[in-house]
Amino acid sequence: MQNYPKLLICLFLTFSFPMSNFAQSGRIPVRAENGMVVSSHYLASKVGEEILSKGGNAIDAGVATAFTLAVTLPSAGNIGGGGFLVYHGANGDKTAFNFREKAPLKASVDMFLDEDGQIKDNSNHEGLLSVGVPGTVAGLYKAHQKMGNLPWEELLEPAINLAENGFESTYNMNWFLKWVKEHHDDELYAATAKAFLKNGEEIYKPGETWKQPDLAKSLKRIQQNGADGFYKGKTAKLIADFMKEHGGLITEKDLANYEAEELAPVTGTYRGYEVVAMPPPSSGGVALIEMLNILEVFDLEEAGANSAKSYHLLTEAMRRAYADRALYLGDPNFNPKMPLEKLTSKEYAKKLQEGIQIDRASKSDSANFNKAHLRYESPQTTHISVVDKEGNAVSLTYTLERSYGSKIVVPGAGFLLNNEMGDFNPIPGHTDTKGLIGTKPNLVAPGKRMLSSMTPTIIAKEGKPVLAIGSPGGRTIINTVLQVVVNMIDHKMNIAKAIESPRIHHQWLPDRTRFEDFGISPDTKKLYEQMGHEVYEAGSQGQAMGIYIDWENDLLYGAADSRSYDGKAEGF
Ligand code: DON
Repeated sequence: MQNYPKLLICLFLTFSFPMSNFAQSGRIPVRAENGMVVSSHYLASKVGEEILSKGGNAIDAGVATAFTLAVTLPSAGNIGGGGFLVYHGANGDKTAFNFREKAPLKASVDMFLDEDGQIKDNSNHEGLLSVGVPGTVAGLYKAHQKMGNLPWEELLEPAINLAENGFESTYNMNWFLKWVKEHHDDELYAATAKAFLKNGEEIYKPGETWKQPDLAKSLKRIQQNGADGFYKGKTAKLIADFMKEHGGLITEKDLANYEAEELAPVTGTYRGYEVVAMPPPSSGGVALIEMLNILEVFDLEEAGANSAKSYHLLTEAMRRAYADRALYLGDPNFNPKMPLEKLTSKEYAKKLQEGIQIDRASKSDSANFNKAHLRYESPQTTHISVVDKEGNAVSLTYTLERSYGSKIVVPGAGFLLNNEMGDFNPIPGHTDTKGLIGTKPNLVAPGKRMLSSMTPTIIAKEGKPVLAIGSPGGRTIINTVLQVVVNMIDHKMNIAKAIESPRIHHQWLPDRTRFEDFGISPDTKKLYEQMGHEVYEAGSQGQAMGIYIDWENDLLYGAADSRSYDGKAEGF
């Protein structure tokens, strides 16, 4: 009898909430039966879920979520940037969309250099030269034209509402608002101050309503005219006029010429699963498959999750794949002879495996790179995973490059421009102590796309998607996705645990491994170092967003990385 009230509470909790109210809590995934969206902003995930519940498919929901993030997550969500979308249908159809930014037609191989051949004023990362021709709107439009179900106009409506009527600002934006306030007198950032500060001057406090009227108008033009509503007419003119006035390169012709591409995904296998990922100009898919091929001969399950031995083997795979990434990969339209088949083959992996000792670190060949340091990699890209009622999966990662991109808002248009040109190798043939790479495949050329590490990925089994996964984090992205996949397949973790688990990152050069701070025991670190690895600790790595499909029980399990401020999995 004493337990009677407890029993009642239990019964109440069990039967009074529909499935969608089982919120994610740490290592427990969200469950849903009919569809799910996971993104870095709770409002965007909700919008995506509502699109699914109205009968939209995974592409519709991905598109609507992406437009909403352009409003609610301006650090990374965008219409002024670019990205990739990988699709795997429940029927086995696979495709990918490439909407990576392009260098403007006036770009040149040494455009960032001064007379001494050094990078001038950080111009590859800051100011108008750092801006690539945006691809997001063209990519989302193309994917929708080909595969969407609901009318285009409907997919833009929630984003327009949120831009027009506002939503609660969160603490996530605080550091940026302070930066904007400090720079609001600078002509280049005047429209940024207008868009982001209250009356152009004051910092919004968390919880205050933030509205973006100019962005709402830009979105309406896209709603009414599709991709032309961005690449032609008023928005294109606003961009081109601003560029001309302030020494930028992008013209109306650059915008009118921009086209997104549909590509065949790059594929591989891992322990009976199929890996479906983004081909170049992303380096993500090729490097991920190369690493998985290398790891396949080792018994990671037996080595144990997060053990020194597992980390050693992961590191050796990372070292080799990142070397190949730097040597071979770039925009395929400018590098027609990239050895993609070789890099993703089991035979090649076999050769690489031979050089790996089970208990001893190998050395990255650092002849020209011996003093290189890691470049800072902020987590400011963003990933969306979607699964619809049929079990079709979308994995979409897009970015402005650094947090808030170039930090430049187009006056009158209300959106931020990317600083993606910084992803090109800036100094031809030159690699220096700061970790710059100067290899040929990724040098600047007019109309070329810069190499990316974004790794939107879908894992499939017997022709059906079982996992949609991706993350931000610059060059760390590929390793973040790798570790989530290994955690699920080798270590049998559920999606939430696989995402929460601590991460490491090695990128060939400099030859040292980043450990997430507070995530990995000092004992493990010591054992790992004893094998000859150098370790340094840094903050959170990535913000993975994933959905696992349990076909046997018709259930979806999703998780938003707790490393993200405002991320959420929404399902129904
Ligand atoms: O495309 C890329 O690989 C990068 N521009 C992604 C940037 C990112 O994830 C944020 N931080 N570095």
